[in-house]
Amino acid sequence: MSIRRLPEHLVNRIAAGEVVERPASALKELVENAIDAGAARISVAIAQGGIGRIEVSDDGSGMARDEIALALERHATSKLPGDSIDEVSTLGFRGEALPSIASVARVTIESRVRGADGWSRVVDNGKLAGEGPAALPPGTRVTVEDLFARVPARRKFLRSGRSEYGACLDVVKRLAMARPDIGFTLEHDGRRTLAVQPGESRPARVAALTDRDLAENSLAIDYARGPARLGGVAGLPTFNRGVADHQYLFVNGRPVKDRLLIGAVRAAYQDLLARDRHPVLALFIDLPGDEVDVNVHPAKTEVRFRDPGNIRGLIVGGLRHALDEAGHRSAQRPSMSALGNWQAEPARSPSFPQPTLGQATVWDRHHSYSPQARAETAAEPVPQAGSFPLGVARGQVAATYIVAEAEDGLVLVDQHAAHERLVLERMRRAMANGGVARQALLLPEVVELDEPACDRIEARIAELAEMGLEVERFGPRAILVRATPAMLGAGDVRGLVTDLADELAAFDSALSLKEKLEHVAATMACHGSVRAGRLLSVAEMNALLREMEVTPHSGQCNHGRPTWVKLAHGDIEKLFGRK
Ligand SMILES: Nc1ncnc2c1ncn2[C@@H]1O[C@H](COP(=O)(O)OP(=O)(O)OP(=O)(O)O)[C@@H](O)[C@H]1O
Ligand SMILES: [Mg+2]
Repeated sequence: MSIRRLPEHLVNRIAAGEVVERPASALKELVENAIDAGAARISVAIAQGGIGRIEVSDDGSGMARDEIALALERHATSKLPGDSIDEVSTLGFRGEALPSIASVARVTIESRVRGADGWSRVVDNGKLAGEGPAALPPGTRVTVEDLFARVPARRKFLRSGRSEYGACLDVVKRLAMARPDIGFTLEHDGRRTLAVQPGESRPARVAALTDRDLAENSLAIDYARGPARLGGVAGLPTFNRGVADHQYLFVNGRPVKDRLLIGAVRAAYQDLLARDRHPVLALFIDLPGDEVDVNVHPAKTEVRFRDPGNIRGLIVGGLRHALDEAGHRSAQRPSMSALGNWQAEPARSPSFPQPTLGQATVWDRHHSYSPQARAETAAEPVPQAGSFPLGVARGQVAATYIVAEAEDGLVLVDQHAAHERLVLERMRRAMANGGVARQALLLPEVVELDEPACDRIEARIAELAEMGLEVERFGPRAILVRATPAMLGAGDVRGLVTDLADELAAFDSALSLKEKLEHVAATMACHGSVRAGRLLSVAEMNALLREMEVTPHSGQCNHGRPTWVKLAHGDIEKLFGRK
């Protein structure tokens, strides 16, 4: 065995294995460089999901002729003026992105410093392929062509252009969210797919890149714990989605993926959301450089906190604090101990908090309700309560729970959970009998979505039709909805299609939707006509109770929680100390 020093091109190729996993990772490095160069506007154009070409132009500082050459050398960086990496304020610092990319693609760098002429340099799979004067405005344009054309092992692992494009879009979104002061555009195969203006506020930028309704459905976060500070926006629990993809975390301005975030977010929203629903949020953590190590991952997408416990506390505390301020207590789901509280501490809440105007709570913003008097039913006798195990509807509480009187006690039904279960069971039956009945919309509805989301829906058009949802592709970034499952009633079509697209992203494309019927049905039910927060007529309530009585498994919702609880007459007597 003889040990030798590897030649530079091989070292770069090895580094590229870690840094450049797919087009999106190369794109991320280029956009980060443009941000570090102080750009005010960054334009990205890609072809075939970035496999064919990636081009990033910026109006930043630019590079002089000799700097361009240096930039393509390994471990050459302008970003560590001192000798410590504890104080990096830039996104880059390793000095290896450009040489790594240039070792596995054809890279052209054109750059011009203000007041000087432009210059360009081409490196093809590690070898200098040309240089000369270049005409361009002050700034830099880096073009990456034919990524991995000479690295078949890597090329083989790339997914379709569409799916690589999805990853590229995600990269641009995350970086654009980190820097609302910078304008960004993205073009894919000649079509403009994203554009945000420079100088936006942070909440406006987050909303522009996630969901434009987020602005009215979110809370501003501002919270400190120890040396760390948390900012950003968090969606209201009721503004939830079917996948956790819409959660963005930034540490000192750097987009990171971190399991800590997912766990902490789940803990903060724990009793406000079903286990399979996720809030939309963008959280920005700022902390001193020595509290976090950014140099733990070659692609710099992970960080290590010196005190992870404090960061978890920061996220849980910050979210919880904001949600409490917004009055989530009034929206809290009752737990089994709720009854115990009534008994043990009657004096604790002599008056109930009143939702007040102007100080909107999570609850009244979403379920603007006032207590409903239902004298018309109370006046009627209860002739058949005895023959109905779930009793006869007497009214509705908080537009969410049905109160029914049964022969042996008081029944409370969670209308949403119950409806969700019924939809699943009805769908199961209808699918077994050849398909779900559809109800045509009076006016077809156009739902705007990301291109990859539209692609996912389009790929499932036939299956969705079997489930009663009739849709068509409507241009690159929209879906036209013609009919919805009749069993849902008039629901929220846009919410339904958006959530289905999310849901499909999480499904293995090899699986049929039938195999995922539980998820699809749950998503559909969420947007049907019987939701939490919807006022139901007495007839609707009774119809729901009767259907529950004859439907298998209707006693628990699709998430395993009970759909109804009964307080027996004996229990009521105990509550009042009569027994
Ligand atoms: N768009 C750009 N505008 C101006 N200078 C740039 C640009 N892109 C790269 N450079 C210069 O080239 C150098 C090398 O870039 P490269 O991405 O390889 O390394 P880095 O950004 O320093 O560190 P990292 O490997 O962590 O990204 C940078 O330090 C910077 O000086
Ligand atoms: Mg860099």
